[in-house]
Amino acid sequence: PLKTLVKMLAVASVFATSFNVFAAPVEIKFSHVVAENTPKGQMALKFKELVEQRLPGEYTVNVFPNSQLFGDNNELAALLLNDVQFVAPSLSKFERYTKRLQVFDLPFLFNDMDAVNRFQQGEAGQTLLNSMTRKGIVGLGYLHNGMKQFSANTPLKNPSDAKGLKFRVMASDVLAAQFAAIDAIPVKKPFSEVFTLLQTRAIDGQENTWSNTYSQKFYEVQSQITESNHGVLDYMVVTSDTFWKGLPADKRKIIKEALDESIALGNKIAGEKDDQDKQLILDSKRSQLVTLSQADRQKWIDVMKPVWTKFEDEIGKDVIEAAVAANK
Ligand code: LMR
Repeated sequence: PLKTLVKMLAVASVFATSFNVFAAPVEIKFSHVVAENTPKGQMALKFKELVEQRLPGEYTVNVFPNSQLFGDNNELAALLLNDVQFVAPSLSKFERYTKRLQVFDLPFLFNDMDAVNRFQQGEAGQTLLNSMTRKGIVGLGYLHNGMKQFSANTPLKNPSDAKGLKFRVMASDVLAAQFAAIDAIPVKKPFSEVFTLLQTRAIDGQENTWSNTYSQKFYEVQSQITESNHGVLDYMVVTSDTFWKGLPADKRKIIKEALDESIALGNKIAGEKDDQDKQLILDSKRSQLVTLSQADRQKWIDVMKPVWTKFEDEIGKDVIEAAVAANK
């Protein structure tokens, strides 16, 4: 009987291995730097839900928010090492891998988020998803956050109000040039450090969306927010070529569909949060809103727009023209 039992167990174990019956699900890690109550945070959680629902027992998605696992300085390197399988950095953070995406950082390029969306979904935008494939990074889709506003502890009405002030920027030479154009001092810092830098007054200001300014509590340590809508902060959801191509085709298809649906939800939330989070900040009375008249805004445009020509060769004139055309 013992012999029979051993035989049965052996058969069962061969069966289990060949049909993956007892195999643990494959872990997919999704790392990001923002809070969960943001468009990106919600998108990542939706992705987890859909993948685990559609590939039960086969794949599990673990989401790491708030730079818990990887932050701005190492998330793309970690992706290429397969230490994480999905990240969605802002479009400003790919500079080391391609210069073409810098188009998104050009100040006063897009009139609004509809224009951003048209550009992303058009031919030029879709081509940009493949701009890093030679580096091993696959762009799977764009995700919205919103338009950026300036914040500081002094009202920024005229460009000259920013003179000499230190502003945190994402790791982008275009954003650095944008602040240099108004005689301010750009300081490149990872997102996880911004609140403390502002709180300790190591820096004077920053630029971000309503959603990030709210969820990171920047408005508690910045007394003035200028509604400038001067640029866009959006994301590209990326994976590595190695991971992506290593997936069985049928699973890849299901995972991509889950991602597309999560992005659609994230985009919807981005649109809603833009108004909601702005209102929450204003209701808190911690920060005052500085609005710009047409004439005020034109002054900012006049000093910042020369940045475009500076980066025209690196980005590509064709790409900039396609973006301008998306304004209609
Ligand atoms: C920032 O660094 O300010 C943003 O890119 C953070 C984010 O991911 O929204």
